[in-house]
Amino acid sequence: MSAIQPHGGILVNRIVEGQERDELLTQAANLAVIPVNTWTISDIDLIGVGAFSPLNGFMNEEDYLSVVNNIRLSNGLVWSIPITLAVTNDQAANLAVGKQAALVGENDGIIYAVINVDSIYKVDKRNEAVKVFKTDSMEHPGVVKLFDRPDNYVGGSIQVLNRPIPEKFNEFYFDPTETRRIFADKGWKTVVGFQTRNPVHRAHEYIQKAAMEIVDGLFLNPLVGETKSDDVPANVRMKSYLALLENYYPSDRAFLGVFPAAMRYAGPREAIFHALVRKNYGCTHFIVGRDHAGVGDYYGTYEAQDLLKTFSIEELGITPLFFEHSFFCTKCGNMASSKTCPHDKEHHLTLSGTKVRALLRDGICPPPEFSRPEVAAILIEGMAEASKSYAI
Ligand code: ADX
Repeated sequence: MSAIQPHGGILVNRIVEGQERDELLTQAANLAVIPVNTWTISDIDLIGVGAFSPLNGFMNEEDYLSVVNNIRLSNGLVWSIPITLAVTNDQAANLAVGKQAALVGENDGIIYAVINVDSIYKVDKRNEAVKVFKTDSMEHPGVVKLFDRPDNYVGGSIQVLNRPIPEKFNEFYFDPTETRRIFADKGWKTVVGFQTRNPVHRAHEYIQKAAMEIVDGLFLNPLVGETKSDDVPANVRMKSYLALLENYYPSDRAFLGVFPAAMRYAGPREAIFHALVRKNYGCTHFIVGRDHAGVGDYYGTYEAQDLLKTFSIEELGITPLFFEHSFFCTKCGNMASSKTCPHDKEHHLTLSGTKVRALLRDGICPPPEFSRPEVAAILIEGMAEASKSYAI
């Protein structure tokens, strides 16, 4: 097994199987129902498999307030993103502390879990928005989601009875116990995790490979849960990751597995969360580049790095690797950052996401200094196919 400790010391397992599951499923049919959407189902599953260790359920009021206000659980452990279950007033009226409730998929009627209710509380969403997202602007996609939810939260440990079945790319879903075993089997003592919600372009590749020079392996761990509608769909991205790995990475030094969580777009706070979760998957190091998990202009380029630096590596339990904004320098003739390149900006190739999307939409490959041709080809094709249902 990987030598790195999960957050809090124990890898949580809340998946119930066999006879215990059968019995609980029977009981659950008579419990109060809390309907859950795709986002919450992914949280349930990630809690269940221990990706969110030490959480064994949705946050009670004490942990919630502590996380929102102090970036720590009530026991002092670092944790940056509230993991919460929201219910309407009517649903809350059917619940009681000390009782159980069934978490049932709102679209499929599947009983995903049972919660042992230990806290029902009203929340100040504006405070949550300002503390977690650093804004209460309704232009921010994370804030919009937050304000869309009811303002009663239910806390308590969960027992997971059913797991969501991926529509595609099943073979790239691994639980933390599996990734830990896989890294150990590969003989990797140090593993760097890479979060992304985008296709991997040359700048991503550059920082990954810079990290690979000092660790045993790369865990390319793209987020494939809910993202905003103008992000490139996960299915298209997956094809692009496979093409990139096949053509440009040594197969015994890079491993692809998805992170089925929803994207919060919480910038600095989410960078901490992303790092802690990757520790649970068995990573020893985690890459944080420019504007990690950011959106629009809400966060400074290095704000995520600065927030992470306020915590010691001991209390994080994973080593963040910080990278400067990277680009292709035409004078250097290679990828670089201000740490390694002496030339003026006019020699630096940087393309905004909007510009790249416009090129791809017109069927034009971005320059190879920005994106590998194999990746660009897949994105152009994916864009054409998805254009009917997605605006990417
Ligand atoms: S994220 O929302 O998942 O963070 P993205 O997929 O763009 O977005 O970024 C993945 C990782 O690469 C993040 O750590 C981000 O900071 C980093 N990154 C993205 N582009 C660059 C760049 N040009 N230079 C340095 N780091 C970058």
